[in-house]
Amino acid sequence: MAKSLINSINGKFKGKDILSLDQFAPLDLKMLFSLTKKMKNIAFNAKPSRILDGNIVTLIFYEPSSRTFGSFSAAVKQLGGQTVEIQNPQSFSSVAKGETLSDTIRVFEAYCDAIVIRHFEVGSAKKASDYASSVPVINAGDGTGEHPTQALLDLYTIHEKFNRLDNLLGVVGGDILNGRTIHSLIKGLCKFKKNTLFLLSPKTLRLTRADFLYFQDKGIKLIEIQSEKEIPKNADFWYWTRVQKERFHDLKEYEKVKNRFIVTKKLLKDYGNKKMILMHPLPRVGEIDIDIDRDPRAVYLGPQTRNGMYIRMALLALILGKV
Ligand code: NCD
Repeated sequence: MAKSLINSINGKFKGKDILSLDQFAPLDLKMLFSLTKKMKNIAFNAKPSRILDGNIVTLIFYEPSSRTFGSFSAAVKQLGGQTVEIQNPQSFSSVAKGETLSDTIRVFEAYCDAIVIRHFEVGSAKKASDYASSVPVINAGDGTGEHPTQALLDLYTIHEKFNRLDNLLGVVGGDILNGRTIHSLIKGLCKFKKNTLFLLSPKTLRLTRADFLYFQDKGIKLIEIQSEKEIPKNADFWYWTRVQKERFHDLKEYEKVKNRFIVTKKLLKDYGNKKMILMHPLPRVGEIDIDIDRDPRAVYLGPQTRNGMYIRMALLALILGKV
C-alpha cells in the first residue's frame, strides 16, 4: 500500500493525479462533496451538460469491474465527454503481444485528457502517473493497495446520512487485509477526530501490523475483533466486504474463511440499531443476505451505488479544470 504521498490536493484539483486518500484534507473533501451535490442534480434531472465537452477520458482496466468501470463511463457521458474504454487489455490490446505498462500508458496519454486505471499490482497507478506526464491519472484500484474513488463515495454516503465525518463508530467486516476499499476508507476517516472502527475478520485477514500501527498513528481508534458477539450495538455504520478470492494463492485457505461473517436479519436485529446504515462496496458473494436488501438501512444497492457516479462526475470536472 502506498504510504506517503505525493501530490496533496490542497484546494487545487486541476491536473492532479488521484492515487490515494492520503492526498485529501478535510477541506478538499468539503469542496468535492459540495460539487457532488450539484452533479447529483445534473444527473437526477437528466439535464444535458457540456462541462466535459471536448474531453476524452481513457478507462483501462486490467482487473474485472462493473460498478467502477460503468460509473466512470457514465460520469464522463453525463457531462458531455467521451471515453476510450479498454477492459482486460491482457487479451484485447497490445498488452497481449507483450507491451509494457509504460508504453501502453504513453500511447493512451497521446489520445486523451485523463486516464483511469485499474491494475492488479500495488503501486501500478502511481507508476502509470509517472509515465503519463501530461495528463492526470486516477487510481481505480491497485491490487490490495487502495481504491480512492470508492472511499470518496463511501465517505460521501456516510456524510450524507450523518452530516459529519468525525465522532463516528463503524464496524468493518470481511477481508480487511486485502480489501483496498477498506484501506482507503480508513485513511479517509483518519483525517477526522474521534473516529473508531471495529475490524471484524478472521485472524488471517487482519491488517498487516505495519498498516495497523500506521493508521493508529494517524489518530483513528482501531479495535480488532473476531466474533460477532463483540460488535458494538451503537455503531453508525457497518461496512461489509467480500473475501477477496483472487488474492489467495491457496484456494483451500479461501474456502476456510470465505463466508465466516454473514450479515443476516438476526445479526442486524441482535447487534444493529435503527439509525445505522449498512454499506458494501459490491460485488457481494453471499456475505449479506438478500432478504436485507429492502431494509431502509441497506444503502449498498441504492444511494451508495448512485453516489459513485456523482462523485466521479465531480472529481473529473475538478481535475480537468472545468469548474
Ligand atoms: C471493490 C474493488 O474492486 O476493490 N469493488 C468496487 O470497485 N466497488 C470491492 C471488491 O472487489 O470486493
